[in-house]
Amino acid sequence: MELLKFLFYFILIAACAAQCPDSDANLLKWSDHAGTWSGSPPAENDNLTITQPILLDEQPPTLYSIVITATGKLVWDPNTEVHLKVHWVQVDGELHIGSEDCPFLSNTHITFLGNVEENNLGAGGDKALFVTAGGTLEIHGKPKLSWTKFAQTAPKFNTETDVIASQIEDTKKRGLAVYSINPTTGELVDSAFFNFLINGRKYPDLIISFVNFLDGIPDVNIVGIAIHKDLPRRGDITGALEAIEILAGQTDGTNPLRDTEDAMYSLLTTKKHILIIGSTSMSKEVYLPLKSEGKTIAEVSMVFAEFIVVVTSTFDINRRDRSKAEVLVAVDLKYRPVLNFIEDVSTWETGDTVVIASTDYDWRQAEERRNFPLIDCRLCG
Ligand SMILES: *[C@@H]1O[C@H](CO)[C@@H](O)[C@H](O)[C@H]1NC(C)=O
Repeated sequence: MELLKFLFYFILIAACAAQCPDSDANLLKWSDHAGTWSGSPPAENDNLTITQPILLDEQPPTLYSIVITATGKLVWDPNTEVHLKVHWVQVDGELHIGSEDCPFLSNTHITFLGNVEENNLGAGGDKALFVTAGGTLEIHGKPKLSWTKFAQTAPKFNTETDVIASQIEDTKKRGLAVYSINPTTGELVDSAFFNFLINGRKYPDLIISFVNFLDGIPDVNIVGIAIHKDLPRRGDITGALEAIEILAGQTDGTNPLRDTEDAMYSLLTTKKHILIIGSTSMSKEVYLPLKSEGKTIAEVSMVFAEFIVVVTSTFDINRRDRSKAEVLVAVDLKYRPVLNFIEDVSTWETGDTVVIASTDYDWRQAEERRNFPLIDCRLCG
């Protein structure tokens, strides 16, 4: 009974604590064009004045400005991903993106357009979000430790001695890069690039050479496959996908490349699935649909006794020529040094950018690392 009582209070407290701004019953939905906007929702380049409580639950058009009056309120819907583009926003009323008890866990973007002082708005300026006296601005994202200190000096990564093998495709062609790696030494013993950007009539030959190349890789070797730029399908590629499925020990028809073209893909596997001491898994793949902005990075890595193999397929929507496939074999502990911090960094995630700077504030000693493979966060918590 005591336990039930405790649970009851616990649930009650939890329910009260989670005061999410989007749960305000007075909110009118932006997406309810007929109701909220009486049939004329905000249009491109509008100077919008918000006088009521509104839930931003759809992608708005590019706006010129937004003024939220004292009676107005604009609340981001946590279930809708929006990218607000506007020259300036003035908050006399309220603007909420999450709250302290109910952080906003999805992504959102606000881009301020135009030039500073283009409208001579005065004190608040333009190309800005400004809150006037009495206004409320609440922006609370996912909790994340913003900075901390090393508990001890970090080891230096030395590309000259610590990299066993590395290769980046250097071609305008598009297709699949395949790498064959010696499981004992980490050497890149063979690699090949298969250009799928060719006439559809040549596909049967292309598929045969792809299948033959995979067949010819010595058993027990580590095999990496990555999309280079794109995987055009001008003919039937089923044979190639079947060969990948056999190689990776996948069930027929389950390779994700069967589904769609707009994705990045990388795979690491050991041929014939012979157990190699120290490897955590026989086959790993990463399949990522293309993001609408920036880079999509499908990176897969596997640790063997002495080294780590990383296969990466990157697509950069803004700089397509920089899209690439690559392989890196490096001495594991130096590629992934164990870093000791004085605080709990478990809120950091793979894909985060970590900037490491020395305390003498010399920028030449600053290093930026992205995609920290926080694989086994041994020191977390
Ligand atoms: C909004 O204001 C700007 C700056 O005053 C103006 O250039 C623009 O035309 C206005 N938008 C509309 C739809 O009237």
